[in-house]
Amino acid sequence: MKKDVRKAIIAGNWKMNKTPSEAKALLAEIAPLVKDAGCEVVACVPYVDLAVAIEAAEGTNIKIGAENCHWAESGAFTGEISTGMLKEIGVEYVVIGHSERRQYFGETDETVNKRTKAALAAGLKPIVCVGELLWERECNITEEVVARQIKLDLWDVTEEELKNVVIAYEPVWAIGTGKTATAEQAEEVCALIRACLAKLYNEAAAEAVTIQYGGSMNDKNADELLQKTNVDGGLIGGASLVAEKFAAIVAAATRN
Ligand code: PGA
Repeated sequence: MKKDVRKAIIAGNWKMNKTPSEAKALLAEIAPLVKDAGCEVVACVPYVDLAVAIEAAEGTNIKIGAENCHWAESGAFTGEISTGMLKEIGVEYVVIGHSERRQYFGETDETVNKRTKAALAAGLKPIVCVGELLWERECNITEEVVARQIKLDLWDVTEEELKNVVIAYEPVWAIGTGKTATAEQAEEVCALIRACLAKLYNEAAAEAVTIQYGGSMNDKNADELLQKTNVDGGLIGGASLVAEKFAAIVAAATRN
């Protein structure tokens, strides 16, 4: 981490877990444990938990995020949620292009780009997820895959808007599998992403972007990952559902 130049962010991605009452209880457990955090603390929660979560996070240092948003302001998009709806209730962050959405729900770089631009236009901070599949890593094309995603997902995003973008590098083979990328692998790709941003924008703009690692990050491996210069935080799935584990990762980000 390089906290003097960019914001360290530990974000929980709760996925399809926790009902509203469970969300309230979990946030009440997390809040006192992370109150002295030396990093931004975010919980990205299911849509129906958002209102309760925002209420529960009031007066704490926890920020609330959604797990997706649509690009249109309104209209005939059954089952979708607009950025205006999220903004009105006080959502600050939104996860976009998570690999589960790409794998199971037909999300493409084009739709990731549209959602990202809509989020930025609404004043939300998108956490844009990129990462290679296992066979892509085995074929030695991680660099091309991730560079392509960054280029397409951030197409037409201005340098000014980039200040509100968070990138999450999540190797798909490490998500929910218990297989964490080594700290070296995480650092290597996070640095590649930053180099790619420097080419698309410039060095200074790239240096300021928060790039998280995600994929089986937990209380045991967080320190090692967060010690790396280009790893500016984490997007945490499984471990974000257990208050002590999530708080331990926040503590690691505070230390490093
Ligand atoms: P995991 O999920 O920590 O459970 O691997 C990370 C993510 O999908 O964001």
